[in-house]
Amino acid sequence: MSKAIQYQANAAISLIDRDKLDALAPALDKARQEVLDDIKLLDSPDSIPAEKIPLDSGFINLPEQLLQDAEKNGNQSLLSKIEECAKHLQSETDKILSLGIGGSYMGARALFEALCHPLHNELSSENRKQIPRIYFEGNNVDNDTVSAMLEHLQQGTSPENATDRWGLVVISKSGGTLETAVAFRIFREALESFYGKNSPECKNLVVPVTGETGKLRDFSKQAGYERTFPIPDNVGGRFSVFTAVGLLPAAILGLDIRKLLQGAVDMTHQFQNESFGNNPVLDYTAISHLFEKELGMTTRILSTWGARLEATGLWYDQLLAESLGKNEQGAFPLTVVNTRDLHSRGQQHQEGIRDKLITNLRVLKPGSTPLAVPKVNENQNQDQLNQIAGKTIPDILSAAFDGTNQAYAEVKRPTADIILPHLDEHVMGQLLQMFMLATVLEGRLININPYGQPGVESYKKNMTKILFQS
Ligand code: PA5
Repeated sequence: MSKAIQYQANAAISLIDRDKLDALAPALDKARQEVLDDIKLLDSPDSIPAEKIPLDSGFINLPEQLLQDAEKNGNQSLLSKIEECAKHLQSETDKILSLGIGGSYMGARALFEALCHPLHNELSSENRKQIPRIYFEGNNVDNDTVSAMLEHLQQGTSPENATDRWGLVVISKSGGTLETAVAFRIFREALESFYGKNSPECKNLVVPVTGETGKLRDFSKQAGYERTFPIPDNVGGRFSVFTAVGLLPAAILGLDIRKLLQGAVDMTHQFQNESFGNNPVLDYTAISHLFEKELGMTTRILSTWGARLEATGLWYDQLLAESLGKNEQGAFPLTVVNTRDLHSRGQQHQEGIRDKLITNLRVLKPGSTPLAVPKVNENQNQDQLNQIAGKTIPDILSAAFDGTNQAYAEVKRPTADIILPHLDEHVMGQLLQMFMLATVLEGRLININPYGQPGVESYKKNMTKILFQS
């Protein structure tokens, strides 16, 4: 059974006035109550105060609701339908192309990188246990990557060959995002030409995930796709990883989506019930907020250790930036991957401007057997590694972690740690929900509506005007 994730901030706390931290507790409790009251407001949309619109707090209870629905309605539940669709795509395809951008992309990528075999797409079909390879597009405007993906998919010569078969998942809540819509047209055409325009595959190997209304919803109805999945109105894009947006790609990849949701439920319960000091959401928010407001630490570094959590960090960058970067407020999020980035950004973190709070994201146990440094004959020991022969890669990572944090502590650079016992679905469910709850909690604490992203609309408006009027 998977364990709970921990947040530890002793190193940071030693650098601030403890009274200030304690004094924040009532404001945090008030903000927590507001976050929880927001959920109830969704029951009567007409009574939502203007300043709270948009209100996308549906993500908080969604994991529990989905699990309860599955318990009650079995095969007819949304989770079972997602799992059925995933099985269908697993048995019918060797490659899935997932189209989407921002919140309609980054959560699935985070789950893929954290939980699947690091070389998943390179493995043979047998070693993947017939689970399709996954690729992501529609998350940029880049002629070269789109062309390369088309070439890659068109290498397949015949739908008769199991390894040539591919399918499309297209994800857009609004249904009108240009990057995704353009990619969908291009890849849909390629799919139709591969299987034949009137083939059953054109209807059963294209799966849209979209809001209840919008251009993609309209098109899907007209096209008659056999399976489409909804994104609830009251769940915002970057908070949608526990809707079909994240769950369908995860299920296609063979991940246990019920365990993922259970992790999120456990974190929500901890957030609701535990007090300051034993509540990762409250504690993480308190430290982040205090260091920003009291000590000017406006850059929040999420320092991931090992290679598998980079996409999780990028998902979090988007979450924090789009949620709190409003009214000329909001800390600057930055993900680094160590030890890789110790050789690039490490210098600045150690000696640069004092505007950074570093939160380490550390996994205690690797998913594979620890590899040891081999011992070699003395005449081949020019690298002098015989001294550490027998030590494992996790031992080396641990030494790097301790050494780095000790170096920061020596010059009073604040660090805190999020400790993950290992990587599995339950742990990732806890972590993603922790970050989402912490983000909305901080929004309420600093009087910023964490939902919506009005600033992003400006570029979209201009781009559309330039493109459609020229
Ligand atoms: O958080 C958000 O709402 C955004 O990042 C969206 O997810 C992103 O813009 C994609 O939007 P859509 O899913 O409507 O295509």
